[in-house]
Amino acid sequence: MIEIAPSILNADYGHLADQVRATFEAGISRLHVDVMDGRFVPNITWGPDLVASLRPLADEFGARLETHLMIVEPDAWLEPFSAAGAAIITVHVEAAPHLYRSLQRIRELGCEAGAALNPATPLAAIEEVLGDLDLALVMTVEPGFGGQELIPATLDKVRRLRALLEARGLAERVAIEVDGGIHAGTIKSAQDAGATIAVAGTAVYNGRAPVATNLGVLRAACSVG
Ligand code: DX5
Ligand code: ZN
Repeated sequence: MIEIAPSILNADYGHLADQVRATFEAGISRLHVDVMDGRFVPNITWGPDLVASLRPLADEFGARLETHLMIVEPDAWLEPFSAAGAAIITVHVEAAPHLYRSLQRIRELGCEAGAALNPATPLAAIEEVLGDLDLALVMTVEPGFGGQELIPATLDKVRRLRALLEARGLAERVAIEVDGGIHAGTIKSAQDAGATIAVAGTAVYNGRAPVATNLGVLRAACSVG
């Protein structure tokens, strides 16, 4: 079964702690924190302080915080996010020219290391560092905003990544995460393509139904047929 990593990007920030608590109470053990700098992507969100604020709540439930760094020059921020309590740090390959070094540094800091690919970035961008990854994040939308439609061609990239990891004997060690446009109508195809973690933002936090209900709908959609 694919693991769901709710993204708080579209949560109600006025009630963030309540929403995160409800998420963990619904059995989620991985929370996705989208970090944006207004340069790598045309939107701005949070820094390490938010991670530090959420960490005690995550610890209460034995959950982990994963930070998706959509920022330029991510190397300068690896230590601050690790110190703030991130368990997983993902950098974008388009923003990390010395990717091997960035991944090594993340691991030295005691975190799991992830590399993210924009929709137009070929798989080859991570092929040489597959053995240095804990997580490969395939963006299924252009990063920057929640609530976009999944780009179907990106699932073919997921399929090819899965095949590549299997061919190299790494499928058990490297998680494949999809991010963007995941909802009850798309999560099963992401799972079938080989994704092991699905980030879901607006499908979880949309103000239409409680978080637990929304998670139930997503879970039911992946076990169908
Ligand atoms: C987009 C972010 C996503 C976003 C997904 O740049 O990386 O994590 O929150 O939102 P949905 O699930 O609404 O597409
Ligand atoms: Zn994300």
